[in-house]
Amino acid sequence: MNILGIESSCDETAAAIVDSRLRVRAQVVATQIDLHRVTHGVVPEVAARTHTEKILPVIDECLRQAGVTPKDIDAIAVTRGPGLITSLLVGLETAKSLGFAWKVPVIGVNHIEGHVLSNLLERPLSSAIKFDKKRLPLIVLTVSGGHTELLLMKAIGNYQLLGRTRDDAAGEAFDKVAKLLDLPYPGGPSISAAAEKGSETAFNFPRPMLVAKNYDFSFAGLKTAVAREVVAMSASTRKKQTPNIAASFQRAVVDTLLGKVERAIAQYRAREFWITGGVAANTLLRKEAERLATRKKTTVRIPSFALCTDNAAMIATVVALNPALARKANPAALLKIDADPNLDLVV
Ligand code: KG4
Ligand code: ZN
Repeated sequence: MNILGIESSCDETAAAIVDSRLRVRAQVVATQIDLHRVTHGVVPEVAARTHTEKILPVIDECLRQAGVTPKDIDAIAVTRGPGLITSLLVGLETAKSLGFAWKVPVIGVNHIEGHVLSNLLERPLSSAIKFDKKRLPLIVLTVSGGHTELLLMKAIGNYQLLGRTRDDAAGEAFDKVAKLLDLPYPGGPSISAAAEKGSETAFNFPRPMLVAKNYDFSFAGLKTAVAREVVAMSASTRKKQTPNIAASFQRAVVDTLLGKVERAIAQYRAREFWITGGVAANTLLRKEAERLATRKKTTVRIPSFALCTDNAAMIATVVALNPALARKANPAALLKIDADPNLDLVV
């Protein structure tokens, strides 16, 4: 079975082909980062318009790279939420049109579930397919530009929400602090690079809600704490202090995220935890997660860099792991699949 994945929920136009043995046969991502760098963030209208221009060439290139034709595609998996509504509609309506023309089932996928299950790509085949039940339940932290969610995964497709951000997402905090420091968008990689030359202890930024006995997060206050320091500085001091601010901020985010993960591991006696989403590309977070795993005698899994940020292989994987979704898809209901910008993973 070959599944064509399509992703357009934010600012990446992506297509991938994943087969039922979880092999990624091709994956193409057209990023809009250069476009959004000018505005220091995503402008929804610009993103949607660019998806419209890119989506068919990206799908075409993906088929070409995989060496397949539409006849070889057995199902289309497409992100239907959460995300920016105008961006989601481009991918979804394209998928529906192709599904109609090619006479293949179309399955609407939750973007967050894609991020979560991206962790089963690139694994030895048997472990991904058989998915050892002894690993369950798992703790999964999904951290991206739009989401910060801590989940308890009881089985593939069965997730319990432990906590989420009450305001800004972790990636959003990176992006906003980068803007305060005049560092380029997206903020994650530029803060990370600036932090390399800075001291993590130069500023004592808050670890929001770390002591609260719940699994919620809040990053707006941390951003405000950084803003307060920055506005009090002259331009030259700010320039000099940028590496220190970046390093201290990054450390505060990582401590906060992993502090909650550690508590969840203990409470649910998890033997394994996963970190997914764009912020999972952060080198400090990856390093500290490894240390936490060693300390807690658990295993941590984080996808490779290319699978952390938005991509379509993760969307196709949701259907590859549950082929019944394709079998059950009703062709008569094809046109009724709708986008949901606030789609919940846990129902
Ligand atoms: O998953 P993603 O590509 O898109 C969303 O679904 O939001 O995540 C993008 C987010 C951005 O906020 C970006 O700043 C952040 O991930 N990010 C990072 C790093 N690379 C990307 N944050 C911290 N460190 C990084 N190395
Ligand atoms: Zn994402």
